[in-house]
Amino acid sequence: MTLSVVILAAGKGTRMFSDKPKVLHKLSNQPLLQYVINTVKQLKPLNINVVVGYKSEEIKKEFPKDDVNWVNQTEQLGTGHAVKSATSFFKGSQIIVLYGDVPLVNIDDLQKLIKISEGGLGILTFSKEFPKGYGRIKRLKDEVIGIIEEKDCSESEKKINEINTGIMCIDSDKLKKWLPQIKNNNSQKEYYLTDIVDLAKRDNVKIHTYEAKNEITISGINSKVELIAMEKMIKQKKNDDLIEQGVNIVDPLRTEIRGTLNCGSDVEIDVGCIFEGDVKLGNNVKIGAYSHIIQSSIFDNTNVKPYSHIESSEVGDNNNIGPYARLRPGAKTKENVNIGNFVEIKNSKIGRGTKINHLSYVGDSEVGENVNIGAGCITCNYDGVNKHKTVIENDVFVGSNSQLVAPLKISAGSTIGAGSTITKDTPANQLSLSRSKQTSIPSWERPKKK
Ligand code: UD1
Ligand code: MG
Repeated sequence: MTLSVVILAAGKGTRMFSDKPKVLHKLSNQPLLQYVINTVKQLKPLNINVVVGYKSEEIKKEFPKDDVNWVNQTEQLGTGHAVKSATSFFKGSQIIVLYGDVPLVNIDDLQKLIKISEGGLGILTFSKEFPKGYGRIKRLKDEVIGIIEEKDCSESEKKINEINTGIMCIDSDKLKKWLPQIKNNNSQKEYYLTDIVDLAKRDNVKIHTYEAKNEITISGINSKVELIAMEKMIKQKKNDDLIEQGVNIVDPLRTEIRGTLNCGSDVEIDVGCIFEGDVKLGNNVKIGAYSHIIQSSIFDNTNVKPYSHIESSEVGDNNNIGPYARLRPGAKTKENVNIGNFVEIKNSKIGRGTKINHLSYVGDSEVGENVNIGAGCITCNYDGVNKHKTVIENDVFVGSNSQLVAPLKISAGSTIGAGSTITKDTPANQLSLSRSKQTSIPSWERPKKK
């Protein structure tokens, strides 16, 4: 069997109370529609058609890399009308219809639905305790005889728990025949896709149903409340999965994994931590409370102390980072490095065994092994126009409150006297300092208040 996908995404999403089209609202940092596109790609369809209407240009711009065919539905006259507007792009023997605002749709369910629908019509259903708002599946004995929209339901029909998820798979030729026959003589004056059930019955085409396994996979997003509830569920699940794998998350309700977090064994994560993008933590890594880690790798036995920020960085084995450390993009540390409180590292490599423990800025630098950088040191990497590099070789000792004005090389074994402003390369194994001599004025008196 061969397949075309049609994703309906033309609606505005009035209940989101937002100017942004609904399918662009983000769930776990990714637009709703992206989830659906990613899932249907696994079906290897002949094409993916997305029906757009409200702010269609804005939607198209968000998916530059996905090979989808955009279909414009200028007026939203109903789901049947929406699918019909994609007819000329139908390819293959079956058409599967999905919604752009049902993000967590399950690939196994879709595959099963496609299988049972071959040659006919298949509906993905679900039994809901509170079916309000959904189209109900009407049966006679076991046979499906119709789908009735909530607004067209009688009181007794409203009591039916079996609902139409909206996801359907239909024989392509039959769908092409039925779509022009759908009428809008219902309470909403819309062309309902669900009316193809009647047309299938008339043509003696078998109607199959497949019940989705998990409610979240068929849940649509209609409001911010629903979006946030789903967001919470996804995060909860990420935490639960990690805990199941043995990660020690002190309080899953106070840990946010916004992207993907991969952990080795015996990892500990204290409260209030946020992980974004792809983050990897090695074995025995500890992440202190309220740390924020973005798109970074932290290797084995490293201890990140509370309130540290780490972004697009690589932290080596056995490091001590923080509390209150900031590793900005391009920070790379080797083994046994200490980065202490209020230290900012940007685009710099820090060699094995090096210590930068207090209140320093190291940017655009290459720092060797066993270097000690005292409190309050600054690599002055920016002259106001260009950035310059600082090289600090192995076994250097930089005295506190020194400024290293780049471009600069501090040669191996150099010692920099505290409080120096160093503007020239320093020779190896010597003391270099640049500060005025200390003097005392014995007769000096403090000014007195007049
Ligand atoms: C639809 C189904 C209902 C089902 C429910 C599941 C119909 C007639 N009803 O109802 O049986 O239980 O979904 O959520 O199919 N859309 C377009 N163009 C349009 C109209 C809609 O692209 O002209 C898109 C919307 O953006 C949305 C989806 O189709 O993503 C569903 O439309 P919506 O208006 O929410 O349908 P429901 O009334 O919820
Ligand atoms: Mg709806």
